[in-house]
Amino acid sequence: MSSQIYRSASKAVKALLSASKSSPLFGEGRAVAAAAATSFRGKVPAVASICERADSRNAFRGWVSGALVLPAAVYMLQDQEAHAAEMERTFIAIKPDGVQRGLIAEIISRFERKGYKLVAIKLVVPSKEFAEKHYHDLKERPFFSGLCDFLSSGPVLAMVWEGEGVIKYGRKLIGATDPQKSEPGTIRGDLAVVVGRNIIHGSDGLETAKDEIGLWFEPSELVNYTCNAEKWVYGVN
Ligand code: RTP
Ligand code: MG
Repeated sequence: MSSQIYRSASKAVKALLSASKSSPLFGEGRAVAAAAATSFRGKVPAVASICERADSRNAFRGWVSGALVLPAAVYMLQDQEAHAAEMERTFIAIKPDGVQRGLIAEIISRFERKGYKLVAIKLVVPSKEFAEKHYHDLKERPFFSGLCDFLSSGPVLAMVWEGEGVIKYGRKLIGATDPQKSEPGTIRGDLAVVVGRNIIHGSDGLETAKDEIGLWFEPSELVNYTCNAEKWVYGVN
């Protein structure tokens, strides 16, 4: 009897693992939940009743907890699937002034503590041509050349953060462009003084985020993973 339970459980686990390995970005919740549901279809009650009997005899205790945890995992994965659809990604960069001033950990911790998930990060010195591509929408502005010189003057910490509403709320965490106008409590409000040295960049919309992530990162540099804290950050009562 225990081997029967083992076969069902291991089949489900294998399906979960192979689905999570093969799933594309953002498809993880759906693929894994679907695989688990397929694997469990019609088997959960059978496994549960076998376990009840096994438990009453105080035997196979390990399998009982394993078998009950797996359906719970399927439930949680389906829950994950629901919020995965609402996930956004944004491009955030700590500019050379923020890097040189030793503010990397401070800035990352604000996004991390909020509950957003880091999915890509690298330290790069962009060329001026690259900086011009990044700020192409500002090419008519008088400060464009100086801005691109500055962005390419030293290391920039390029990142992609993921979370529900992260594009808009990321900008709130960052604060107004001009630190003289940024609210206290925001990154620029607390840590910067003038507009030309406002230490951080954040995408300003869905399309911009997509373009900027594509400019700074190869698709293979974006890491798709489930963060342990997610089930505590997201939920509906
Ligand atoms: P960012 O793109 O860097 O996140 O900044 P933002 O959306 O808040 O502001 P944006 O209008 O896109 O400006 C890009 C960067 O240009 C510099 N800037 N200098 N008057 C000036 O000298 C001036 N105005 C803007 C800032 O570094 C700003 O972040
Ligand atoms: Mg901007």
